[in-house]
Amino acid sequence: MAKIIIAGGSGMLGKELRKKLVSENHEVVILSRNKSICKQSSDHIYWNPEKQWIDPNVFVSTDVLINLCGSNISQGRWTSQRKKELLESRIIPIHFLVDVFKRHQIRIPKILQASAIGIYGRQDIESVDESTRVSSTDFLSNLCLQWEKSGTLLRPYCDQLSLVRIGVVLDKQEGMLAKIASTSGFKFIACFGKGRETLSWISGTDFCNIVSKLIDVVEIPNIINLVSPHWTTYSSFYLQLKHFFKVPFLLRLPEFLGKWIFGEMFVLLNYNQKVKSKNLTNMNYQFIHPSLEDFLKK
Ligand SMILES: NC(=O)c1ccc[n+]([C@@H]2O[C@H](COP(=O)([O-])OP(=O)(O)OC[C@H]3O[C@@H](n4cnc5c(N)ncnc54)[C@H](OP(=O)(O)O)[C@@H]3O)[C@@H](O)[C@H]2O)c1
Repeated sequence: MAKIIIAGGSGMLGKELRKKLVSENHEVVILSRNKSICKQSSDHIYWNPEKQWIDPNVFVSTDVLINLCGSNISQGRWTSQRKKELLESRIIPIHFLVDVFKRHQIRIPKILQASAIGIYGRQDIESVDESTRVSSTDFLSNLCLQWEKSGTLLRPYCDQLSLVRIGVVLDKQEGMLAKIASTSGFKFIACFGKGRETLSWISGTDFCNIVSKLIDVVEIPNIINLVSPHWTTYSSFYLQLKHFFKVPFLLRLPEFLGKWIFGEMFVLLNYNQKVKSKNLTNMNYQFIHPSLEDFLKK
């Protein structure tokens, strides 16, 4: 049994992870800025990185810190103010943690710092893996680069640090799938463009299982991609969803309409990425949902 702190653990990924880790008898503490959740639930502890507030005693005897903090990139139009929020919600908590660890001489054995496969940018031809050189090619890749650069500042305060580059996490109840499902009530699923672009994804179950495995293994990789071994094209993705939600048709909308509705954030709906995970292969991780078909069936 380990003591695990999940900073930013009140969101979609943190909630599932907390359930999984508690079921494995770990002691889980969630750091959240939400005072009412913290009052209701004894394993949620209030902190506020912007206001520099935390009780440092929360870190006593902590074995693993998982930092998932970051405002949701699919919420709100990407105005310059929103872009600033997306960046600051990721780097301010890291800088605050570094500051607290330094001031109180805290050392955590293992830190898993969230990042995203957005760091690879849009990849029109090649597939990428953890050894691929990354550079700033658009807003998402630049955001992730700055996020990871801040993440590495945690290294002096832990024995092992892993930057966990997460793919699009599919969950039947929340996130991207839930948003798509909301149009299925109208007997169609809305989709954009020709659908040739590829989506690199992972199921919520595999995400939680892999994090659990990273907690247990003796040595964690410096960087790890969390993606299923089979990426999918958007056209296949939408077709499979059409069958899954039992809707009669797909409503294919022109790209210009998507750009008009979502602005720059439209890239999230057709970001072309073929991401592989060499390190998951090396860990010999057996996926519960290796393909989209498996995920929708089980
Ligand atoms: N879901 C995906 O498909 C996916 C894919 C790739 C990467 N990721 C990354 O994984 C992380 C977790 O994703 P998620 O889907 O669980 O996100 P989520 O549901 O939006 O939850 C994000 C969490 O971050 C915390 N947070 C937000 N703004 C913050 C701020 N300014 N300061 C401190 N904490 C803040 C929130 O905690 P409180 O409000 O309780 O403080 C919340 O629990 C995010 O960093 C996300 O970018 C997710």
